[in-house]
Amino acid sequence: MKICSIVIALLLVITGEAIANQDFQGNLYDFLFSNYTKSFLPHHDQPHYVNVSLDLQLLQKLNLFQGTMHMNVWRALVYKDERLTWDPTAFGNIRRFNVYSSVVWVPDISIWNSASNEPSIDYSEAIIYPDGTIALVVPMFVDASCGLDLSDFPYDTHNCSLTFGSWTNDNSRIVLDTTSNSVGLSHFSDNPMWHIVETSVQKNSVVSDCCEEVYEDVTFYITISRRESHGRIGPAVVSVWLILAVFLMQPSKGGERIIFAGLVFVSLIVLNAALSAEVPAYSVTRLGRFLLAGMLINSIVVVINAIIYRFYPAEQQGTTKAQSSFSAPRVFFLLDVAVALILFVVLTILTGALFS
Ligand SMILES: *[C@@H]1O[C@H](CO)[C@@H](O)[C@H](O)[C@H]1NC(C)=O
Ligand SMILES: *[C@@H]1O[C@H](CO)[C@@H](O)[C@H](O)[C@H]1NC(C)=O
Ligand SMILES: *[C@@H]1O[C@H](CO)[C@@H](O)[C@H](O)[C@H]1NC(C)=O
Repeated sequence: MKICSIVIALLLVITGEAIANQDFQGNLYDFLFSNYTKSFLPHHDQPHYVNVSLDLQLLQKLNLFQGTMHMNVWRALVYKDERLTWDPTAFGNIRRFNVYSSVVWVPDISIWNSASNEPSIDYSEAIIYPDGTIALVVPMFVDASCGLDLSDFPYDTHNCSLTFGSWTNDNSRIVLDTTSNSVGLSHFSDNPMWHIVETSVQKNSVVSDCCEEVYEDVTFYITISRRESHGRIGPAVVSVWLILAVFLMQPSKGGERIIFAGLVFVSLIVLNAALSAEVPAYSVTRLGRFLLAGMLINSIVVVINAIIYRFYPAEQQGTTKAQSSFSAPRVFFLLDVAVALILFVVLTILTGALFS
């Protein structure tokens, strides 16, 4: 009986505290929001300072045809609303108050250079502190725009940017700032295809064309480079070098040499087609230049062999007669060696240029 009443008393105390706590929250909510209009800026005579920061979660896909990088980020805004201040001692020592972001004023910061600007969840909580500071972190899917320079593909590096700014308020009303000089990467999950070289942040002011108003923006730069383990380049190098095998065959088998060179040519065409499926066909890439040079060399080899085929003496005639030091087989052998050596040097230079 005694234990029972102690338990009941304890329960009463606990629930009482919970109710009191609940009341403090309710009181604070009423105190803050009963006379609050979220559509107005907190004050109208001074600018509002808003700190923007960005945390990169995931790089999803670089679209080489549109020049965009799809990624998941967390965007944090920290700003102050002086209408939302309270004395913690009057409200059960509440020093941090979470409310739905839809009930507080949120600066209209959006992405200027992105087609998609979607929060990936449709609600989020804002944290309010007793001095009126509000912290709002939203996960977002965004498309950063990347100035595409594919001339070094597949060893390419891209500088992608995301520009945040207020959509309607110039710098007399909203001044953007940033607390860090890079993009946060502490939650970044590594990408198998891209490696992050560096990130940076820049503050800019843009004067609008029409009205002399100055808009502030904060631009985050993320520089990525392709992780390339020569997987794309390997087949191209092997195919281009294979043409040397032509000169291992007997010059008398001119027809077979030409067929072999033709097969190598087809493989180069296939590799080139695979390349144009991956990068926009109009861009000149390092790998594309290498394949083109390979095709050119291949064509020259075919022409040389066609000439050899044309002029090589038929086997039956003069087998015993042509034993002088200028016999046809010897001349053609020397010609083969010379061409093969020149090709070797040219291919070495080309391949060196591909890897450098
Ligand atoms: C709301 O604010 C106005 C102006 O500050 C004040 O006159 C009014 O009494 C307030 N109303 C409540 C319910 O606090
Ligand atoms: C923004 O960051 C700066 C530098 O850390 C700080 O001094 C300032 O108080 C911050 N502003 C807000 C509104 O939190
Ligand atoms: C990316 O571009 C911006 C603006 O042009 C520049 O400030 C930044 O240094 C660039 N980053 C790299 C790594 O080139």
